[in-house]
Amino acid sequence: MAVFDLESVLSRMTLAEKASFVTGVTVQDTAGVPRLGVPALVLCDGPHGVRRLADGADPRDLYNAAPATAFPTASATACSWDPELLQEIGAALAAESRAVGVDILLGPGVNIKRSPLCGRNFEYFSEDPVLAGELASGWVRGLQRGGVGASVKHFAANNQETSRMQVSAEVDERTLREIYLPAFERVVKQARPATVMASYNRINGIWAAQHEWLLTQVLRDEWGFDGFVVSDWGAVTDSVASVRAGLDLEMPGTAGRSAAVLTEAVGAGVLDEAALDRAVARILEVTARLLSAGDTLGPPRADHALGHALARRVAAESAVLLTNGDRFLPLDPAGQGTLAVIGEFARTPRFQGGGSSHVKPTRLEAALDEIRAAVGGQREVRFAPGFRLDGAADQELLEEAATAAGAAADVVVFLGLPDSEESEGFDRASIDLPAVQLDVLHAVAAANPRVAVVLSNGGVVATRPVERHALAVLEMWLGGQAAGGAAADLLFGTAEPAGRLAETIPLALTDNPSYISFPGTVERVSYGERHYVGYRWYDKTAREVAHPFGHGLSYTTFGYSGLRVSVPDPARPEAVVTFTVSNTGQRPGAEVAQVYVTDVEASADRPERELKAFRKVRLAPGESRTVELTLTMRDFAFWDERRHGWTVEPGAFHIAVGASSRDLRLTATVEFNVPLTALPLTLESTVTEWLGRPAGRDALAAAGNEAARLLGVDGEIMTLIGGIPIKRMLTLAQPGTTDEGLEQLVERANA
Ligand code: BGC
Repeated sequence: MAVFDLESVLSRMTLAEKASFVTGVTVQDTAGVPRLGVPALVLCDGPHGVRRLADGADPRDLYNAAPATAFPTASATACSWDPELLQEIGAALAAESRAVGVDILLGPGVNIKRSPLCGRNFEYFSEDPVLAGELASGWVRGLQRGGVGASVKHFAANNQETSRMQVSAEVDERTLREIYLPAFERVVKQARPATVMASYNRINGIWAAQHEWLLTQVLRDEWGFDGFVVSDWGAVTDSVASVRAGLDLEMPGTAGRSAAVLTEAVGAGVLDEAALDRAVARILEVTARLLSAGDTLGPPRADHALGHALARRVAAESAVLLTNGDRFLPLDPAGQGTLAVIGEFARTPRFQGGGSSHVKPTRLEAALDEIRAAVGGQREVRFAPGFRLDGAADQELLEEAATAAGAAADVVVFLGLPDSEESEGFDRASIDLPAVQLDVLHAVAAANPRVAVVLSNGGVVATRPVERHALAVLEMWLGGQAAGGAAADLLFGTAEPAGRLAETIPLALTDNPSYISFPGTVERVSYGERHYVGYRWYDKTAREVAHPFGHGLSYTTFGYSGLRVSVPDPARPEAVVTFTVSNTGQRPGAEVAQVYVTDVEASADRPERELKAFRKVRLAPGESRTVELTLTMRDFAFWDERRHGWTVEPGAFHIAVGASSRDLRLTATVEFNVPLTALPLTLESTVTEWLGRPAGRDALAAAGNEAARLLGVDGEIMTLIGGIPIKRMLTLAQPGTTDEGLEQLVERANA
């Protein structure tokens, strides 16, 4: 399709056309300007499959979309720690999107998992922004190279479902900069997404969809975002304020109401037409970008067989082997004795979450069928459902399962969360698995201890109650339409479990740092734990956890050696980290080497360690590979509220390389000599701060009297008065101190 001339289109559009152009038509279509050759856009969910509703379909009929590959959800794919794999998913989604006429696929979701209770955690990647940002960048690259625009969501601080359309996230700037914004920042800078989606909530009292600081200053001016900002569906409460703040497209359509409001506002001089033009131009620009990408790609083709095969591989790559006592897994498909398969989820898979991301799968594999196919008659497979998915106790089913287990050589139990326990739209009430399922597991394990458990859940569940009754636990999250096949591949070792936890599994919900404040009141939720989210909190407080961030076993073992950290110039905070990973076991496997940084001499409170880089390495038995990763300024910096910017302080940093945040195998120390811009001395600066600077001392000496006497104060008294702001100190010590005198002091100190 011919790409239109942006300037000429904009100059020929009427005011009414512009207002319609920026406010959507239906739940998935925008208006375009057919008169001037500008096509409408189709925006669909996302992010784990394409949910394209038929034209004119009732939008409330959310689950009645055209069939599409249901990939594992983000909480699973995050555990792959593999941006290239995410890129493959993005590419497959692009092909399926284009085949059904979707221009923009609404994802990825990069919100940070502040609480394990967030009902949408299955749609989000991680508790860590570096990991979330890297994976999302891979996904966006794959999607956009395939000619489809991404919509990075939900911007920002949308970390709960409770009151999501009312609540204000009360969060300080350092926490935003270090935790809740950097995943967005990384995607914007690395992958140039076509759109960013403004979230439903307010941030420090201001709606995200009309937050000028967020949508314009940070997103565009600082990060260089050059796509358009779309509202989450129904997030706009004041169309005029949103356009003014930097929102470009309001979705879904409001039957012309918002367009009328905008037209009237321009007419009345309340909204500058230039602000409207700006939004129009941005949507035009992205439309043109997508059109020319489509031209170079040729006709769209979706291959559902390939999609399914990829979904199966991704599910296996993302599965986390939490425990494997006695090396119980993998099982021998030709082993002696019956294999008991227990649990309704083996027959009725739970493979995706509820809400806008729900897709109609092209196929659906049940683990039970796949296990039977893999065994192929070599050993007997006996199934017992064990429990009902509605959570009601059923003694008969429990006893049948225990009997089946007692008569079997090996047992695999499929447990998980039912659909009713997690979805978009509400948060969970606990992290426990349903009691009826645990009861069945206990009865089964009492009858036969040779038990492996396979878990299907989107958000984290407490695993210790499972681990006490199982030799092996395989966490498969919501593994998509081919999760059943992937489970069979993993159980019998035709695939290696290659996932690592993208979020900590706590022992108890009460250990989570947001426990007291989540989800707050209808109006506000305080992010009082600040930047201590996930492992940053568990590690800082040395709290025992069920499984640390980054953890995951393999069927083989890995060794680390030869850490070298080179610093090209100590005045510049940059380092090149090199080390070797070896497969020390008997089977092929993939290790995820993780690099953590600790600021040893920080003046600000900083986490014990933070993930800054990682690499997934696939190794044959006995094979070794050298990994080189580069750390840059931001990897050593913190958001300095006093300097209002990223600061690296001079001094030592520890660099640790390992297999989880608590399994650090190699460490090194580097020293930086970074020049630090001095903060000006003010009347609020303390006595210690004044005395700590030669210029401060000189100014005090020159001021005479009580000010000069401070220079002679000895150690013990100084511990008492050192923290007093200088203004308070001088007015206390010398009641005659004038404002003029104080001003002169400050001027002299900063001259
Ligand atoms: C969700 C978004 C989704 C949109 C469109 C909203 O309710 O929060 O994630 O993309 O609906 O379906």
